[in-house]
Amino acid sequence: MVVKVTSICCIGAGYVGGPTMAMIALKCPHIKVTVVDISQPRIDAWNSDELPIYEPGLDEIVKQCRGKNLFFTTDVEGAIAESEMIFVSVNTPTKKTGLGKGKAADLTYWESAARTIAAVSKTNKIIVEKSTVPVRTAEAIEKVLQRNCNTSGVRFDILSNPEFLAEGTAMDDLTAPDRVLIGGKIEGQEGTDAVASLVEVYANWVPQERIITANLWSAELSKLAANAFLAQRISSINSMSALCEATGADVSQVAYALGKDSRIGPKFLNASVGFGGSCFQKDILNLAYICECHGLTEVADYWYSVVGMNDYQKNRFVKRVVSAMFNTIRNKKICMLGFAFKKDTGDTREAPAIDVGNGLIEDGARLAIYDPKVSDAQIAMDMGAGMSNITTYKSHIEALRDAHAVCVMTEWDEFKSYDWGEIYGVMQKPAFVFDGRLILDHDKLREIGFIVYALGKPIEPFLRSAEGN
Ligand code: UDX
Ligand code: ADP
Repeated sequence: MVVKVTSICCIGAGYVGGPTMAMIALKCPHIKVTVVDISQPRIDAWNSDELPIYEPGLDEIVKQCRGKNLFFTTDVEGAIAESEMIFVSVNTPTKKTGLGKGKAADLTYWESAARTIAAVSKTNKIIVEKSTVPVRTAEAIEKVLQRNCNTSGVRFDILSNPEFLAEGTAMDDLTAPDRVLIGGKIEGQEGTDAVASLVEVYANWVPQERIITANLWSAELSKLAANAFLAQRISSINSMSALCEATGADVSQVAYALGKDSRIGPKFLNASVGFGGSCFQKDILNLAYICECHGLTEVADYWYSVVGMNDYQKNRFVKRVVSAMFNTIRNKKICMLGFAFKKDTGDTREAPAIDVGNGLIEDGARLAIYDPKVSDAQIAMDMGAGMSNITTYKSHIEALRDAHAVCVMTEWDEFKSYDWGEIYGVMQKPAFVFDGRLILDHDKLREIGFIVYALGKPIEPFLRSAEGN
């Protein structure tokens, strides 16, 4: 029987759970959506005027639905008990210790959520995997649920519904997704019915032809594969950026020419100081680990090399800064514009600014960091002991005052509209710009007097002679 869902609970009020549930509440006024989290401060923030995450368009939707059919609470058990469908979007970080350390996904939070679901469920539940998980997690979770539920006759149907939203554009991605993927045990009637229940939720706003169904394992693997393919494109163009610098080609022109081939397409070909974010590295490591576990060493190595290229790109950037500045940055003030892993988010997970920042500090630099959305506390958490060499600023011009160099680490739009003449005036000379995101007008900067390094672009004579090449 296909259940027409009227109550949904989401475990985990993070970057995925919060925006996704806000969108379901907006598009399905007949469904009561309750988002739960074990973190009281996080839930308090969701119930306040200052949401715990910055995402364009999210505030308006939360304000419109909150208290009507969208609720945020720490009453995890109560919300599970009363809901027909439970989304699980808890964090699944890379394991830090034990078997698979540094590669496999840590499912501690997932398992704990499953145990709670089992303990409090008195009626049938459809469980929806939202967090990215290793292939065949659903199978493991099903065992935990079945063995820990004390009420007889309770049925758990497990679905995989991987999230493809990108931070910064999450609300647009959720409003008009390229596709919604739903995996389930479609070989049996009950599995098919559970899938149909979730299809019906999305069909409130997503055209049917964009809702794809698949078997459980295919859906789980598709998420890992999609992120691996996207990251692979960035590593590929970044590898080209190194070659462009060595040969005098221009990576933007190469990317443009490549993207015009309809088989390749223009997206995700922006060379950068490196990809960050909570997904790409974690998912590739996870994918490669699964390959290793199946004895597919060559396949695993292929994917590891995508992460290796990303690390190379961040190191290469640090080396450029040091060698351009006469091989010493000791005690020089270097301003980092941007700290988030991409624009329009305050998220810093795996941000390239962290590794680049540590690299510059190792060489003796004093860092001045300005980011429009990242809090000082977050930077302190990410940089740890390095903070003794870092000052954070609320104004870009103060961060740049007396700086020897500026490194553009995030592609925030506001950086493009700064008065770069004024900036030149307050910096030490020679004033260096290292554009790790290719967002600035390099010719104009050179006219003003800056020495400019633009990643993947022909190296200007000043830098070539400073580096002795
Ligand atoms: C990614 C996937 O895009 C999304 O589908 C999935 O659900 C979660 O992971 P996200 O990490 O939020 O989303 O952002 P994304 O836009 O993919 O950017 C990831 C990183 O790649 C950022 O650091 C970004 O700056 C970098 N990037 C992206 C590039 O360096 N060049 C590009 O051309 C595109
Ligand atoms: P994502 O980017 O995948 O959304 P986040 O780390 O932003 O990841 O969010 C995951 C959320 O899940 C966190 O707020 C965390 O407190 C919450 N969480 C983890 N385990 C549980 C649990 N067992 N019950 C409820 N919430 C949980």
